[in-house]
Amino acid sequence: MNIFEALRISHDTQRALATQILQTQGDSPERNRLYRELKHELAAHAAAEERWFYSPLIDHDESMAQSRHGMAEHHEMDKLVDELNSMEMSSSGWLAHFKKLHHKVYHHLEDEEHAIFQLAGKVLTEKQKTDLAKSYEEEFVNFRLGQMPISSAES
Ligand SMILES: [Fe+2]
Repeated sequence: MNIFEALRISHDTQRALATQILQTQGDSPERNRLYRELKHELAAHAAAEERWFYSPLIDHDESMAQSRHGMAEHHEMDKLVDELNSMEMSSSGWLAHFKKLHHKVYHHLEDEEHAIFQLAGKVLTEKQKTDLAKSYEEEFVNFRLGQMPISSAES
């Protein structure tokens, strides 16, 4: 597996969870469960991805700007999650605000899978692509299953 395939697994999970949440109602157990899952997925993925994908890409001039942009978007998503955390899940505003996060997640993943993966494909060696996949996966699983606070937005 290479780093692109590894990252895409979580991307698909994020899209599925975000879309399922749009179909939930009020302060229901279903919405609570899915939202908790999505927050944890986003946080674990962003942390492992910044360390094992963006960090090596920052070393190359060609991919530096796009990498910084990608990480800035992680922060924007954290901010939306923070705001959602402080809102009443049963209020009509919650879903309206969640739609902004849904949109941001889809936009960000699209950006990564097209623009950033393409650039990374050029600057990383084949060995790096497989080595980074292993490191990313190990770290992602630790974060995903662990209790470690990995994002200021997670609560
Ligand atoms: Fe990302």
